[in-house]
Amino acid sequence: MIGALRGVLEVFNGKGALKNLKYRTMHRDLQEILIDEDALQARIRELAAQISLDYKGRCITLVGVLKGCVPFLSDLLKRLSVETNVDFIMVTSYSGSKSTGVVRTILDLKQNIEKKDVLIVEDIVDSGLTMGYMLKNFSTRKPHSLAVCTLLDKPSCRKTKVPIKYKGFVIPAKFVVGYGLDYNELYRNLPYIGVLKKSVITETK
Ligand code: IMP
Ligand code: MG
Repeated sequence: MIGALRGVLEVFNGKGALKNLKYRTMHRDLQEILIDEDALQARIRELAAQISLDYKGRCITLVGVLKGCVPFLSDLLKRLSVETNVDFIMVTSYSGSKSTGVVRTILDLKQNIEKKDVLIVEDIVDSGLTMGYMLKNFSTRKPHSLAVCTLLDKPSCRKTKVPIKYKGFVIPAKFVVGYGLDYNELYRNLPYIGVLKKSVITETK
């Protein structure tokens, strides 16, 4: 009896379309799920293991790029076995689904990163303009080391070369949301990465 009940619950909570009922108002705006929860978590575990190995015996200053980094940074952080120190920066170049190309700092780091091992944690590198701006800006502050960890990489949209040391997934040139990534501040709480339907994207810029 309990087993049967569990079976029913698993249908609702496990893999498959029914699971997405929970997020149905957001889920129906998606064209497809590109990376599901299990794949995200498995890859983050691999990234954390690699980073922990590379920074063994050191303390990493993780700089999260707000707001998109939040779920990724949180899951990555919990799996790192080295000492960490967390700070945040908020920059912007996006309005809706288009990059304006002009990057601005909205909130700067609280800490001095001189002589620190800095790892920038980002949700996605698209044109590369935001990351290029941050790398240039941070390198003037003389860190001991400076590297990039991004969950997603959209290389086909690159406008400037960016050295990415750790990347979760390479994705096609599609506008994605979920797991921190937004469209006009919505969809960040989806636990997976999905492609937004073209009909939902209203901008014509
Ligand atoms: P870039 O400067 O063009 O590389 O853009 C970097 C920032 O734009 C990322 O940190 C995201 O916040 C945002 N962005 C780029 N592509 C997407 C996307 O497909 N969905 C949501 N946000 C995106
Ligand atoms: Mg971002």
